[in-house]
Amino acid sequence: MTALVSPDVRRWRQWTAMIEDFGGTDEMHGSGHWFLDGDPVPTQDGCVAFVAMTTQTAPGTPDGARVPSTYYWIAAGDGGADDELVGFLNFRHTLNDFLLDQGGHIGYGVRPSARRRGHAAAALRLALLDAPGLGIDRVLVTCDLDNAASRRTIEINGGELEDIRGDRRRYWIAIP
Ligand SMILES: CC(C)(COP(=O)(O)OP(=O)(O)OC[C@H]1O[C@@H](n2cnc3c(N)ncnc32)[C@H](O)[C@@H]1OP(=O)(O)O)[C@@H](O)C(=O)NCCC(=O)NCCS
Repeated sequence: MTALVSPDVRRWRQWTAMIEDFGGTDEMHGSGHWFLDGDPVPTQDGCVAFVAMTTQTAPGTPDGARVPSTYYWIAAGDGGADDELVGFLNFRHTLNDFLLDQGGHIGYGVRPSARRRGHAAAALRLALLDAPGLGIDRVLVTCDLDNAASRRTIEINGGELEDIRGDRRRYWIAIP
């Protein structure tokens, strides 16, 4: 089972285990970690700093522009307090030029030890449920050309390829 939960410092032990499993930050897509001053520190204080970041206005983009967004942690379970945390998901509420061209509405990452168990596919499906409330009737999700796992995650959630820009495949998911 997979659930999306809001970042919460009470889950700091599960969060530190997840950060350690990623073993670095380069594949922590959807985490928003890149807005921290330095890498996330896998301690309780590190979790406090991380959660504070997620409650600030929005994620950024490489050009520094920011849009409102929702941060989630992906949990293995029903969202209960003891669930293992297995990943990150970030839902950008609007698209600026960079997000329309490359980043898309939604980014996600699953910790290495929990991959290939359906968590990303389920997390994306759950995130799409937020779209109507945000006034979004089609969701843009993108992936690198060589990212077969993310491509499949998007496609099984109904993604229709619009085009390829640079090294990114751009998919739209229609919201019923
Ligand atoms: C992409 C990622 C989130 C997928 O997470 P996951 O939980 O392992 O994905 P799922 O188990 O839900 O699998 C979804 C689909 O992808 C397929 N898949 C998963 N890993 C795959 C791989 N390495 N190669 C090919 N297909 C793969 C699964 O088989 C499944 O398809 P199916 O239902 O047709 O069998 C994960 O690999 C990851 O975090 N990668 C690094 C960060 C990243 O690339 N994020 C996306 C940025 S666009």
